[in-house]
Amino acid sequence: MYLRLLMTTLLTVALSTNLLAAELPTANGKAVIDYLNKNNYQSWQLWPGKTELYVGNFPHGALLTTYVSNGAYDAIEAKAGGIPDGEFIVKENYTPDKKLVAVTVMYKKDGYNAEGGDWFWLKFTPDGTIQEEGKVGRCIGCHAGVKNNDWLFIASVK
Ligand code: HEC
Repeated sequence: MYLRLLMTTLLTVALSTNLLAAELPTANGKAVIDYLNKNNYQSWQLWPGKTELYVGNFPHGALLTTYVSNGAYDAIEAKAGGIPDGEFIVKENYTPDKKLVAVTVMYKKDGYNAEGGDWFWLKFTPDGTIQEEGKVGRCIGCHAGVKNNDWLFIASVK
């Protein structure tokens, strides 16, 4: 009887720990970086049609590798018109000699910033130092040029 209760309790704890690991981060740079590391974003799919280290445009790296979470991938493939809540675009920025210098992230968070497409913006260096995060005016100001494409430059999502 006690053993059974103990087993049930342990199972419940194990399950909820698992659920917590899968839980989406809040709109916070450190929480997002932890989530990306825990979920090994470098194992995610690349933006459909893009290779690793493709030639990038100003102002990001000379060479870029852009990973997307599953739900983002599906929406892009389906030409859904935008990226759903809770999904990520993670772009690695490299120098011409393939040195990683920064990671820039767009994290869709419904209700976070309606006038900015509900994107949470984040830039960090390979050692995890956060350079910019949140409703970053610089990111938003430039990406506003493509707000009719869910603020995404790389390719049409419609
Ligand atoms: C001066 C304009 C400009 C600024 C400022 C800027 N971006 Fe971008 N961003 C671009 C362009 C252009 C691309 C497409 C690059 C390419 O594919 O070659 C891009 C691509 C991206 C992408 C890949 C998805 C997409 O839109 O193509 C992410 C993620 C991103 N930027 C995040 C950020 C973040 C975070 C900031 C602020 C820290 C930022 N950007 C600031 C112009 C800008």
